[in-house]
Amino acid sequence: MPGLVPGIHVFLTGGSKDVDGRDKPGHDALGNHRRTSPMKRIIRGSILHFLSDPASGGAAAWQYWEDGALVVEDGRVLRVGERRDFEPNDFGGPAIHDYRGKLILPGFVDTHIHSAQVDVIASFGTQLLDWLERYTYPAEAKFADPGHAAAVAAFFCDELLHNGTTTAAIFPTVHKASVDALFAAARKRQMRMVAGKVMMDRNCPAALRDDGTAAEADIRDLIARWHGTDRLAYALTPRFAPTSSPGQLALAGRLLREFPDLHVQTHLAENKDEIRWVAELFPEAASYYDVYARAGLVGPRSIFAHCIHLGDDDLAGLAAAGGAIAFCPSSNLFVGSGLFDLERARAAGVRVGIGTDVGGGTSYSILRTLADAYKVLQLNGTNLDALRAFHLATLGGAAALGLADKIGNFAPGKEADFVVLDLAATRVLARRTAQAANIEEQLFALMTLGDDRSVFATHILGEPVYRRAMPT
Ligand code: GUN
Ligand code: ZN
Repeated sequence: MPGLVPGIHVFLTGGSKDVDGRDKPGHDALGNHRRTSPMKRIIRGSILHFLSDPASGGAAAWQYWEDGALVVEDGRVLRVGERRDFEPNDFGGPAIHDYRGKLILPGFVDTHIHSAQVDVIASFGTQLLDWLERYTYPAEAKFADPGHAAAVAAFFCDELLHNGTTTAAIFPTVHKASVDALFAAARKRQMRMVAGKVMMDRNCPAALRDDGTAAEADIRDLIARWHGTDRLAYALTPRFAPTSSPGQLALAGRLLREFPDLHVQTHLAENKDEIRWVAELFPEAASYYDVYARAGLVGPRSIFAHCIHLGDDDLAGLAAAGGAIAFCPSSNLFVGSGLFDLERARAAGVRVGIGTDVGGGTSYSILRTLADAYKVLQLNGTNLDALRAFHLATLGGAAALGLADKIGNFAPGKEADFVVLDLAATRVLARRTAQAANIEEQLFALMTLGDDRSVFATHILGEPVYRRAMPT
């Protein structure tokens, strides 16, 4: 398996039985671990994926096979299509996953989430700057303890898998141990992940403040040990302009010039008080966006969370530089930040992915986040149809992170991460799905009513890593 260390062990949250009820090949006596296996797997079920954005590509942008089959070899897609087009002996191998009656999609991509905010989610009563001071910084300070960092990283990665999310762009904390713990947990599960040490050297509690030289040495060491290891990639992660000095942003820019294939992630134009503060802190910059542009931080692997209050010139600048936006509707509603205009971003030619932004966001579920996206667009006087929504959640997110050559759809050769969805997971969803006239209506019901209960199984590189427990 290219890029993977032979013999790596994967924790399987779903127990020791295969999705067909057989013992999983390669399990130990407890059924909890197995070796990555190069075996061929054939997956049956209804299959949907995207070739481009349905907003511009129309009917050619997506493919759907109600009775579909996906063939995976060595963790990569060999073939996908209508089941009847496959030779009968394609189905003779030992590993057939029969998901007939379920919907198979490429694994969800969460383009913005904080692994250190698992205990911040659902904190009452504040907007961004107060929320950071009152809840978020104290929770993040606990990650100086490597034991805490490791326990939370394991919980966090499992929670992503339970929600069908197989790739995410993640903010741990300023602590090197929090980044090591997160990458180690992701590697153990063979997830494709983007993350990096949060950088902040001012306007934050002393316990979270970088010391310039030590921070640079930590970042260089983390890049050397994790960037390009298995499926992991390093992102330069200045938290947001207010907590970085101009010198620290310049350091991030220098590192990007030195390592041009690194990712960049930060926050931009989320909240009006934040924007006023940035104008005070960086009087020489033309705008908040310009602070990052001047530091040389905007490029094809840069993703900016929120961008709710971004001027036309800045949006055009972002498009020209090839930067992307993480649209985080659940967080934007919960923290009271505002309504992102997806149509405007699309018209400007900026790539956009969907982000849960836990713990400002209130759910790890990409389905619930799409439901919030729909409501945000309704309040903007536009709409988000289901096909566009699920494109955002899969190929759109992969493209926003600069990973569309590896993940995001079932094109042959791509890494076979996928989610199996149950369109009858709850009484309400089952009833509504039964009324749906076509796949678009089914998808809309799923994104409006679905959550982690709708995730029947999650596969990484073809292999089952999570299966929903059956009701007893
Ligand atoms: N801006 C700076 N830090 C954060 C954060 O942790 N969450 C959100 N939503 N916005 C931020
Ligand atoms: Zn965030």
